[in-house]
Amino acid sequence: MHDVINPATEQVIARVPSTDEEGTDEAIARAHEALTAWRAVAPGDRADLLRRFSTVVRDHVEELAQLEVANSGHTIGNARWEANNVANVLNYYAGAPERLFGKQIPVPGGVDITFQEPVGVVGIIVPWNFPMPIAGWGFSPALAAGCTVVLKPAEITPLTAIRLGELALEAGLPEHVFTVVPGKGSVVGQRFVENPKVRKIVFTGSTEVGERIMAGVAPQMKRLTLELGGKSANIVFADSDLERAAATAPYGVFDNAGQDCCARSRILVERTVFDRFMELFEPAVQGVQVGDPTLDTTEMGPLITRSHWESVAGFVTDDAPVAFRGSCPTGPGYWFPPTVLAPVSPEAQVFQEEIFGPVVVVTPFEDEADAIRLANNSEYGLSGSIWTRDLGRAMRVARGVESGNLSVNSHSSVRYWTPFGGYKRSGLGRELGPDALEAFTETKNVFFSTED
Ligand code: TAP
Repeated sequence: MHDVINPATEQVIARVPSTDEEGTDEAIARAHEALTAWRAVAPGDRADLLRRFSTVVRDHVEELAQLEVANSGHTIGNARWEANNVANVLNYYAGAPERLFGKQIPVPGGVDITFQEPVGVVGIIVPWNFPMPIAGWGFSPALAAGCTVVLKPAEITPLTAIRLGELALEAGLPEHVFTVVPGKGSVVGQRFVENPKVRKIVFTGSTEVGERIMAGVAPQMKRLTLELGGKSANIVFADSDLERAAATAPYGVFDNAGQDCCARSRILVERTVFDRFMELFEPAVQGVQVGDPTLDTTEMGPLITRSHWESVAGFVTDDAPVAFRGSCPTGPGYWFPPTVLAPVSPEAQVFQEEIFGPVVVVTPFEDEADAIRLANNSEYGLSGSIWTRDLGRAMRVARGVESGNLSVNSHSSVRYWTPFGGYKRSGLGRELGPDALEAFTETKNVFFSTED
């Protein structure tokens, strides 16, 4: 059993069983048995079931959101968005089974067609930072493609995933098509990697564990999608709407208390406006409402655990160049104030490493080429923002930055209609968008001879 703790109060709110290796293998075996019938469900019927699942999730948004606030310390506003995101993504991929087209390819001597066939049982390993959306981005297209799913939530944030598993059954999905298997990564996650009945792994989490999983699946050539860390740049040019860039910058990095792989945790500012940007940025940071996540007005909650708090605090050493900080509650809860370090050199550890907390570095740059060079001075390449009024520059910089998801004059990263994923050590493959089903299918080519 594992105690589930509310990070805003440090109270135990639930006890959840930890599945052992045998239990994990049983869940995988049942998912494997369920595969034949699930992939044979007519496309229109599979679409209907996913739509019904979406509707049931939508009917439970408030319950799921409250559960996430209690388990993960997410603000209630964010948690409602996250639960709705699951319903939206299910609804979006409900359109896919009836549009899972192959191709007819012109060839001599016959007819050639391709089929997109389900890859098999998919093992989804979810981190603690966005338990609902990250689960939904995996299981929605996997189920639409005709795969069955075993899903392991993070050990510390299992409650919404467990509830989503129940809601799937309530919506009419056959048993064992979507199974939530709570437990430890080193046990349940490891069995997903080792058990040959799992044919694909979708992993989101740390780059270190992602590397291990990539090596672990190699002998069986399992299909793999990895969404890993980030150290994304928010590039602010002198010709931008500086007031807006400064006012929105805190929300590009401190959302979810900075526990976001897309956090714009390096702000790069053109040197000629650096001081003015900092003047505007300070009140914006101090205006971030940090506190009780159950309140509609709260913009940032606590960190997830005491040990994660210690890890984040370890980056703000006594000699760290703290420019200014926001505020946060005292007393129980893993509270950490929004913290701005400036000016920070590109060689500094805090410029290079993912902190995964509400800590941002600000660094000046000289010109467009320097901005691109600094943005790319990272082993990661997940997300980023570009603030400029010059459309040509926006296009040049967007093409120059090695990153999977960029936004110009905004901090938007994830839209379920568009592909999401990283360059370099931020991951492998793409989730979401119109092509996500390719990651859950094998292409089969069949040639029919028309010779006599
Ligand atoms: P990880 O250890 O990578 O955990 C992510 C998921 O993988 C969890 O479900 C975890 O299970 C599981 N896992 C752990 N070891 C495994 C193994 N050997 N085989 C299979 N699955 C395994 O991340 P974390 O410890 O929660 O966070 C550490 C750091 O990772 C953070 O500080 C942050 O820098 C980064 N992180 C990044 C992201 C994203 S979205 N890129 C998300 C979370 C964390 P348990 O719950 O049992 O550990």
